[in-house]
Amino acid sequence: MSAKVIDGNAISAAIRQELRTKVEALKQENKRVPGLAVVLVGDDPASGIYVKNKRRDCKEVGFKSEIRKFDKDITQEELLEAISKFNIDPTIDGILVQLPLPDQIDNLAVLEAIDPNKDVDGFHPYNVGRLVLRYPGLRPCTPMGVMQLLERTGVPLMGKDATVIGVSNHVGRPMALELLLAGCSVSAAHKFTSNVHEYVEYADIVISAVGIPGLIKGAWIKPGATVIDVGITRDERGKLHGDVEYDEAVKRAGWITPVPGGVGPMTRVSMLQNTLYAMEKFHTGGQ
Ligand code: GUN
Repeated sequence: MSAKVIDGNAISAAIRQELRTKVEALKQENKRVPGLAVVLVGDDPASGIYVKNKRRDCKEVGFKSEIRKFDKDITQEELLEAISKFNIDPTIDGILVQLPLPDQIDNLAVLEAIDPNKDVDGFHPYNVGRLVLRYPGLRPCTPMGVMQLLERTGVPLMGKDATVIGVSNHVGRPMALELLLAGCSVSAAHKFTSNVHEYVEYADIVISAVGIPGLIKGAWIKPGATVIDVGITRDERGKLHGDVEYDEAVKRAGWITPVPGGVGPMTRVSMLQNTLYAMEKFHTGGQ
């Protein structure tokens, strides 16, 4: 058996097309388009690429984007001031402060300074709380993107056993919650879990978000299981690797995501969807 590949590029392209259509409709009605503000601090090359991609993604679907760049020596007060300006800017629906931030900045204070109704990362404690309570709100983009991959592929979730490996604030833990809310029985494995392979062997749905290439052995995958690889690590030659031993896992899984071209494009498009959602739900109904 060989797994069917879940094509994140194709699914995200279909969603981008839906977004473009909605933006066109707004323009036809002489309404403003959604606006995303991105705050970048310092000169981390990876963060620079992420931010450039966000600008390109916005342009492609017709959103406004505004990038504010700051020197790595910025003070907390200056950064909070920039956020409060975007909070009251009526043309901005989403604010994203690119992480990581320099050591002198209190990350939580920055994330809490963003208007929760513009928090398109879904990182604000208010939105995390709403997710826990199953209230509608802005959801973290990577778990949201994974859920859309599963839903659009037609992977059954209700009553299934899911294992999430990695429990970070922004990916693993909200991922486990999303699956729980979708009706899965969820296990969360982490660095203190001694028998990760047993949790994987048992699972109908395996989601790895660790960042250690080859951590999840192909032989652990239950035949027919769905395997979603969130991990992405660049080796010294520049090649990208997921957490899952793909060549072996593909022989056993029912569905599997590649790296690259699986989860990554879904994270990006979920950010755009959140920006449109924030505009429609919270900010003047597109006037
Ligand atoms: N840095 C790396 N990924 C992300 C992300 O999804 N959001 C933010 N704000 N910073 C990041």
